[in-house]
Parts: sequence; structure tokens; C-alpha cells
Amino acid sequence: MRALFVSVLACLMACATAQTFQRLGGCPDLGCIFPPDQVDFLAGQFFDIRLEVHSPINGSEARVGEPDPNFSFTISKKGGNAVSATEQDISALVLTLLRRPELTRTDLFAQDAEKPSLVNVTAKAYRRVALYEPGDYEATLTYYGTQKTVANWHVRDLPTKRRAKNVILFIGDGMTTNMITAARLMAHRSINGKYMTKMALDKFPVLGHQMTHSMDSFITDSANSATALYTGHKSTVNALNVYVDSSKDPFDDPKFEIITEIFRRHFPHSGVGIVTTAFLADATPAALTAHTSKRSELDHVISAYYDGGVNNLNWTNWDGPDVVLGTGAENFLQTKDAPRDYYKLFSEKGYNVAWNNTAMQNAPSDEKLLGVFQTSNLALWLDRNIYKENLNNQSNYPDGSDRDATDLPGLKEMTLKAIDVLQERHDDEGWFLMSEAASIDKQMHTLDYDRALGELLELDDTVRATIEKLQSLGQLEDTLILVTADHGHGFDVTGSVDTKYMNAHHDDRDKRRSIGNYRESGLSQYTVDGPDALQYSDGVHFPARWDPRYTLHSGVVAFPDHRENYQVHSEGPRLPADEVKGKKDDFYVSYKDAVTGFLINGTLPVDADQGVHSLTDVPVFAQGPCQELFGGVYNSIDIFFHIAECLGLSETQGRAAESCAAQGVKA
Ligand SMILES: *[C@@H]1O[C@H](CO)[C@@H](O)[C@H](O)[C@H]1NC(C)=O
Ligand SMILES: *[C@@H]1O[C@H](CO)[C@@H](O)[C@H](O)[C@H]1NC(C)=O
Ligand SMILES: *[C@@H]1O[C@H](CO)[C@@H](O)[C@H](O)[C@H]1NC(C)=O
Ligand SMILES: *[C@@H]1O[C@H](CO)[C@@H](O)[C@H](O)[C@H]1NC(C)=O
Ligand SMILES: *[C@@H]1O[C@H](CO)[C@@H](O)[C@H](O)[C@H]1NC(C)=O
Ligand SMILES: *[C@@H]1O[C@H](CO)[C@@H](O)[C@H](O)[C@H]1NC(C)=O
Ligand SMILES: *[C@@H]1O[C@H](CO)[C@@H](O)[C@H](O)[C@H]1NC(C)=O
Ligand SMILES: [Zn+2]
Repeated sequence: MRALFVSVLACLMACATAQTFQRLGGCPDLGCIFPPDQVDFLAGQFFDIRLEVHSPINGSEARVGEPDPNFSFTISKKGGNAVSATEQDISALVLTLLRRPELTRTDLFAQDAEKPSLVNVTAKAYRRVALYEPGDYEATLTYYGTQKTVANWHVRDLPTKRRAKNVILFIGDGMTTNMITAARLMAHRSINGKYMTKMALDKFPVLGHQMTHSMDSFITDSANSATALYTGHKSTVNALNVYVDSSKDPFDDPKFEIITEIFRRHFPHSGVGIVTTAFLADATPAALTAHTSKRSELDHVISAYYDGGVNNLNWTNWDGPDVVLGTGAENFLQTKDAPRDYYKLFSEKGYNVAWNNTAMQNAPSDEKLLGVFQTSNLALWLDRNIYKENLNNQSNYPDGSDRDATDLPGLKEMTLKAIDVLQERHDDEGWFLMSEAASIDKQMHTLDYDRALGELLELDDTVRATIEKLQSLGQLEDTLILVTADHGHGFDVTGSVDTKYMNAHHDDRDKRRSIGNYRESGLSQYTVDGPDALQYSDGVHFPARWDPRYTLHSGVVAFPDHRENYQVHSEGPRLPADEVKGKKDDFYVSYKDAVTGFLINGTLPVDADQGVHSLTDVPVFAQGPCQELFGGVYNSIDIFFHIAECLGLSETQGRAAESCAAQGVKA
């Protein structure tokens, strides 16, 4: 009895002190295998293997001496023979010795004292490996004599017959079911609790539900979650299509192949399109071509659009997308930080370069197209359509001049043009298009709910117009259409607010009496026509007005100090919190924002100037070939596997996917 007690106590102590440094995600102990334990692969999908052995310098696991350079590694198929890693298709072998200074997150005291926990690391990488036989594999790293780290890998056994000619993946960045519900309330009239019209999303035949957790954190960012959606591999916050290793170099981390790369490798005459309302170097579009542990390597991202990343360790042999439409001109212009003039390079490579909506519409659809419409993120639907004066005096024309960008396309115009280009150029082998409504997320971050929901309604209108377009092109039955999100924000609506009453009172507690819940919520006033109501053609649904007297009582679960008056910010996008002069990373309420409202103290650390992502699962809407695969509750990575299955990309040995025509896909 006594001995048992002692050993339990020893374990508790060890566990507690082991917290002095945060382990690299995917490392269960001092040995690390990337890809890590419990990873699934598409048969034939290229990936790198990286092995690390750690020797912590401080903490309870501290070791004397260098990390083991003599580790060994095997991969064995369950029910098959053990094979040494060197028998795989390995094109490069790198052995490096590194020192990784790791600032711990879990020990805030050590962080305040600027005393990092250090780890010495030995590492080895095998580049561009693939597993072709479906089944379960066991990868084993043996180090320090007898210590072992085991990673269980699974190669999915998927049908190889191609079922879809085209795939469109719409991503409402940060979009949740709660936001869709709120947008519907603002834009669709109901009578006695029954809606008279439906959203385009409401009409999809199949609805699923995906879990967005990342590899080593239950809250994901857009880089990491886009990686899961496009590759079937979960990674770490800020990583694009790599597992984050110990080295500082953001380009040497172990990579894995992206849906775009696999699609073009199997079907060299297929097409790829990328559309976003974000700056193009942002994570969700970037994850279709870039491989890096740091999403902030913006020049690398743009160069990967330009050449498909062929110059990056010869990882891939595709030459980039046919059509790229978005904003973020600052990353295309030649500056001292960005030495290359990407407009010139794209143009020399055969792309038409459009700087405004008119030029984009006029660009021939049988040629490659790059559209960059302004600096920064695309102006929001609300400013482009309702409060247009906010487009003035921005000095954001994409050619680097100080003109204003006012002839702007929206998500719908960009998406429909991208479809024209892809269909014109790739009617034979089909195409893949990703279209992102990026600012649902960006405006949720800054607590600008009207602008966020305006973006969501624009996405819905884009989906509606896309379905009509595919119908008119005769492509609807051959196109898998998905609408999903990469993660959520903790947004919801809990009632309504009498803004006239709020604005008329001065005391904060009196102002709060303007909030009505349950019965006092009443009905949506956004759909009520009045003298100032906006008119939209049949089938297009946006609010009839954005400034009714009774607005939505909405909010998120975590936020910085801010003021709230629950009224549309007609003067431009909102900035809820301000950094105090001379105090870095210390954010207080912005007294210029929502002046007629009241102060709400923040629930986030004071270095947060905006809201954060949340835990919620997000919806998946599916229609078209393979739609049935997307019903139910599943993991974000399953979206990749289902798309890959639908496009016939599973490459079990000797059964490489055949051409579209051979698979009987209608052209
Ligand atoms: C391990 O780390 C220590 C402390 O930083 C350093 O002095 C030593 O050279 C490292 N050893 C190896 C083999 O890198
Ligand atoms: C690693 O193996 C080599 C060759 O067998 C041996 O000379 C060396 O001492 C070993 N190093 C360690 C740290 O075990
Ligand atoms: C770990 O060791 C290094 C090197 O000796 C030292 O600089 C650092 O402060 C130590 N960290 C902690 C948390 O003690
Ligand atoms: C990539 O391949 C080309 C041609 O095969 C070769 O010349 C070049 O050295 C390779 N680059 C890298 C980084 O391996
Ligand atoms: C749109 O782009 C074309 C081609 O660069 C240019 O000639 C035209 O002036 C632009 N229009 C506006 C409104 O900026
Ligand atoms: C834009 O700037 C000009 C001159 O700087 C000014 O006269 C004009 O009022 C501004 N327009 C808006 C909409 O702010
Ligand atoms: C509440 O917010 C105000 C304004 O930003 C700030 O001065 C105050 O310190 C906050 N209170 C707390 C407890 O954070
Ligand atoms: Zn975000």
C-alpha cells in the first residue's frame, strides 16, 4: 500500500513540474514523429517525414548531454512486414542539429522573468514520401537506447472512381449557424413565426456539422483550419500545409500535399481558381498553394500563387492557379520589403491583370486572370452598397497610386467571373474553385455585426447566383457545391434594442432598459419597408433598412473593453478598442466608438484589441455529386477526404485514377 502511495505522489509531482515548457504540438515525449500519431492519409498523397529527439536543458525532463543522434525509425504495415524508412520513395535526406529556445506559455512566471525553457534537438527529414496501400501503419522512432515513440497512421481505403467534374468550395470565414440565423432574420420577412422566403443555404439538400479543433489546440486559426480542409492534415496555429517542427526556418517544416496539387498532378488539364474578399496573402486563400509554418510569410504566399511553389524544394510540379481574384495590392507591388513586381511577373506568365471591376469583366475568359482590386481587404458589402461615401479618401487603388478604388467587384462578381474562366479553359478535365467570404470573420473580430452579417448575406447571394450560373452553363449536375466555415466566433442574438430610448438617456443603467428580451424582442424591423427602405430585385435578400429603431441585441462571448449602442456604424467599419499612447499591448475602450451606448468591460487579456475565435462546430452545406458524403457529424479533415474521393484522387498502387472521360464523367 505504502509503495503504491509513494509512486502516485511521484507521478503527480513529475506531471506538475513537466509543465515548465510547452511541448511542440504532436510530440508526446522526447521523441517526435511528423506526421504525428492518429493521422490519416489519402492513398498516394505526398508528405515529408520529420523525426526529432529532444534533450531539454531545464525542467523536470532536463538531460545531460546532446540529444541522441543515433535514433532509428521504421514503418510497418499492420498485418504486413516491417519496412525501413529508407525503402520508401525518398528523394532527400537532411540531418540537422538544432537548438530550440522555447518560451513557455503555461508558465507565465517564467515568461515574465524572460527565462525561456531550452531544448536541444536532433532531427532528420525524408522528403516527398507516399503510402499507396490502404490500411493501418505503425511508425516507430527508437532513441536513447530503448525509448520509443509510436505514431499510428491510417491510409484510407477510398473508391477511386471520379464522380464530380467540378468542385466549388465556399468558405464563410468564421461563419456559424447562429450568424446564419441572425442574417436570415435581418433579410427575410416572416409572418407569425413563418418565413415567407428562404436563404440559398436553406435550400441545400444535405447539411453536415464539422469539428474544427487543431492538432494541439482546441481553438483554431484560419491557416490551420484551411490546412485541414484542403489536405486532411490538422496542424498548428499559423501553419500552412506543414507540421511545425523545432527549427526556426519557416520553410523547412515537413509538408504534405494540398488538394490543388494532387488534383493537378492527377489531371494535368484541370483548372484551379481562388477568390477571396481578403488580401490575397491571407491564410484561407494562401493554404491552396503555400507550405510554411508562418502564415505571415506573405511574399512566400504570393510567390506560391505565381509558380505553384515549384521553387520550394521541388515539392510540386504544378504551375499555379488559372484565376486569382482578391485584394491586398501591397503584396504584389515592388517595395523595399518585397523586391519582386508580381504584376509584371504574372503578366509575363500570360495572366491578364485587372485592377478594377470593369477590367475584370472585360478580361477574356479563355486566358489566365489575376485581379487585385485594392490594398488591404476588400471594402465591405455594406460600404460598397449602402454607405458608399466610405469608399472615398482611402488612397487604396491597387497600382500603388493614391487614387481611391471605387470600381470594385464583390464576392459574387468575382466568383461568377472565375467560373467563366475555369469553364472556358477546363471544360475537358474540370476545375476546383475556392471562394471565400473572408470578412464575416474580420468584422466579427471587430464586433461590427452589421458588416459581418452583410458579408454573410453577400455569400448567400453569391451561392444563389452561382447555382443559376452553373445551370445556365449546363454544369450544375456535374458540380459538387460545398458551403462551410473554417471556425466560428461566439456570436448570438438575444433580443432587440430600442435605440431611440437608448440614445435619449444618459445614465448607463437607464440605457440598458432599452434592451428587450423574450416577448419584448418583438419582430425583426430590418425587413419592414418604409420611405427609406432599399429595393432589391426578386430573389435577392438583404435588409430593407440597416437602421431601424429596434435593432438586434447581439454580441460575442469574449471581447476587449468597448462601447455598445447596437446601431449600424454608418460612418465606416468599427474600431472598438484603442491602444493607449506609450503603453504597448494595452487596450482600452475607444471613446469615439458607439458614443450613444454604454461601456462594456472586456473579458479578454488587455493586449487583445478585438474578439477571438470560438470552439463551436460549424455547418457544412452540400449539393451535387457525392452530396451524401457530407451529411452527419464529422471532423474538418473529412471534408478533404470526401472532396478527394469525389474527384477520384485516391491512388492505391496500380490503380491510379483514370481520366475523366474514362470514368464516364459527363463533359
Ligand atoms: C545544448 O544546449 C546547451 C545550452 O544552450 C548548449 O551549450 C549546448 O551546446 C547544446 N548542445 C548541443 C549538442 O547542441
Ligand atoms: C552514435 O553511433 C556512432 C557509430 O555507431 C558512435 O560512434 C557514437 O558514439 C554514437 N553516439 C552516441 C551519442 O551514442
Ligand atoms: C533554462 O536554461 C537556460 C540556459 O541555462 C537559462 O538561460 C534559462 O533561464 C533557463 N530557464 C528557466 C525557466 O530556468
Ligand atoms: C529542383 O529541380 C531542378 C531540376 O530537376 C534542379 O536543378 C534543382 O536543383 C532542384 N532544386 C532543389 C531545391 O532541389
Ligand atoms: C479600370 O482599369 C482600366 C485598366 O487598367 C483603366 O483603364 C480604367 O481607367 C480603370 N477604371 C477606373 C474607374 O479606375
Ligand atoms: C476627401 O478629402 C478631400 C481633401 O483632402 C476633402 O475635401 C473631402 O471632403 C474628403 N471627402 C470625404 C468624403 O471625406
Ligand atoms: C473597464 O474599462 C475601462 C475602459 O477601457 C478601463 O479603464 C477599466 O480599467 C476597465 N476595468 C477593468 C476591471 O478592466
Ligand atoms: Zn479570425
